[in-house]
Amino acid sequence: MTRLVMPHGGGALRPLMLEGEAARAERERAAALPTLAISSRERGDLVMLGIGGFTPLEGFMTRADWEGVCDGYRTAAGLFWPIPITLSAEPARAASIRVGDEITLADAADGAPLATMKVTEKYSIDRARECMSVFRTIDEKHPGVRMVMQQPGVNLAGPVKVLSDGGFGERYGTLFMTPAQTRAEFQRLGWSLVAAFQTRNPMHRSHEYLAKVAIEVCDGVLVHSLLGNLKPGDIPADVRTRAISALIENYFRPGTVVQAGYPLDMRYAGPREALLHALFRQNYGCSHLIVGRDHAGVGSYYGPFDAHRIFDEIPQDALETRPIRIGVTFWCYRCNGMSSDRTCPHGEADRLQVSGTQLRKWLEEGRDVPGEFSRPEVLEILRAHYASG
Ligand code: ADX
Repeated sequence: MTRLVMPHGGGALRPLMLEGEAARAERERAAALPTLAISSRERGDLVMLGIGGFTPLEGFMTRADWEGVCDGYRTAAGLFWPIPITLSAEPARAASIRVGDEITLADAADGAPLATMKVTEKYSIDRARECMSVFRTIDEKHPGVRMVMQQPGVNLAGPVKVLSDGGFGERYGTLFMTPAQTRAEFQRLGWSLVAAFQTRNPMHRSHEYLAKVAIEVCDGVLVHSLLGNLKPGDIPADVRTRAISALIENYFRPGTVVQAGYPLDMRYAGPREALLHALFRQNYGCSHLIVGRDHAGVGSYYGPFDAHRIFDEIPQDALETRPIRIGVTFWCYRCNGMSSDRTCPHGEADRLQVSGTQLRKWLEEGRDVPGEFSRPEVLEILRAHYASG
């Protein structure tokens, strides 16, 4: 009998998605309610609430939750939480909604109803304060900061009943696993020590190495790709997940990897996002989160190991899921193998390090990419993506 980590908060998973007859009835009710179109980030958060990934939250946060999370990583009820999960509306739209009203939250792209929400509070926030707390900067060149600074001016709080998986199931099929499903799969495999490998990229050899280091010390690894939106220029999720499947098929032992994806947009909040990554991986049943160099970072806003350190700055009982901290990984021509700054005694000149920009340029120009950087099966998929424009 295996024992997986408990869901966050110590209780059972709390998926807020309605099923069967309850969903059908709620959908009918939703059609008659006032509708609020929500942003892509909010849609990702809502779907995560729906599948139980944000257990034990019941909906979008109140002002007291927002303030507590920004200032001290705690909701008003004292629950550890590192990033506000909020919903916002244009002031004119918010003015027509009263506290106590029920509303339908709809996909901004196609108007499809995603959830109903009982509005328990309307409030405004100091967006710059949120950015300083969460992103450590208010520079609007930071994509996460821009997202918060551009969100409309009134926040709406309240519990949600989720009606849709936002199309992720249809788009990604069996790759779109709920926390209950990954937990069942880990149980089936007899795993209890499970490392999550968070990624928003196709996996190159340094990523492969990180996952394999974890497999050496755990029962298996959940390769968990972000399926929501990224900043412009990043590789789309369907291409990334195909490249990852090819890597797993060719270079990992069967029975050591579960590949899946989750519905959030990237916030690029570096260390704070690493904590959120650990928190929701606990809900997915993972005892560990691999945290490498500049985890969830962007540009040079964070130190390369700020996301390692933040796990020492929170109370030890905040999360059951622990980090597996790994340094910078690369191919070293003198070691003649994958190595890291903690194990390789050689210098920069012996190490192959390729930036995302450099790789993109090579692929766009159809140039050869060193096999020490990425596997041929992965490169073939990326090359086809770039060739198709
Ligand atoms: S992230 O936004 O999801 O962190 P990415 O997909 O690039 O971006 O990284 C996935 C994980 O691999 C993160 O934990 C990151 O820190 C780690 N990582 C990526 N490249 C390296 C590297 N060369 N050395 C060490 N860790 C790395």
